[in-house]
Amino acid sequence: MSELAHKVRGVDHVAYPTFDPAGTVRFYRDVLGFPVVHSICAAGWGPDKHPDFIHFFFDIGNDDRLAFFYYFGLEPFDGGPQGDSYSRFAEDVPIWFIRSRHLAIHVENDADLMEYRRRLDNSEWPVEMQIQHETIESIYTHDPNGYMIEFTRAMRPVTPQEDLDANLTIDALIDVLSEPNPSMAGLLTRKAERIVERAAQWQADQDALETRQIVEAEDATDEVGAR
Ligand SMILES: [Fe+2]
Repeated sequence: MSELAHKVRGVDHVAYPTFDPAGTVRFYRDVLGFPVVHSICAAGWGPDKHPDFIHFFFDIGNDDRLAFFYYFGLEPFDGGPQGDSYSRFAEDVPIWFIRSRHLAIHVENDADLMEYRRRLDNSEWPVEMQIQHETIESIYTHDPNGYMIEFTRAMRPVTPQEDLDANLTIDALIDVLSEPNPSMAGLLTRKAERIVERAAQWQADQDALETRQIVEAEDATDEVGAR
């Protein structure tokens, strides 16, 4: 785990290119209700041959923003029949790989998630999947640019024990990546080894915690008795 102070405050903005600014505004502002909060008109900007462009931003809550670039006169780049406005892939690239990159927007509760489901289902971009993962429930669709977007709500808080488990998993992953043929089986074995390596320290930490709690409880009792 990192000992470094954690000073960042979430996403300021994510930016994507678009070849369909009208569809993009329809999707984010008119269907989803995300306000347009900022736009930059850049003419004669940057190096030679850089097209004029509009950079525009939607408010996605929590002071975070989703931004797009529209370049005048620019044609989409063709790398293959699959993908989105930013990346086109050949036919043999698995769709699950292409869909792994996506943006997830957090909502407060089930009612809010269902409100966004309703807005999308009444539009040209209905919800494609609704899935309950371990701790979250999500809906997914693709915006007019082919970018996958997810709305998600927490079904319960994530516990410190799960954060610890995540760190053990990631440390085990880094370990097995340094070996030939990394695999899930190798990762799980290494993770078990790391748990065993830590077990003695966990017991010591637990004992120290319990001792501290007993001392604090005794101190509190003494204080009440002294009054
Ligand atoms: Fe996700």
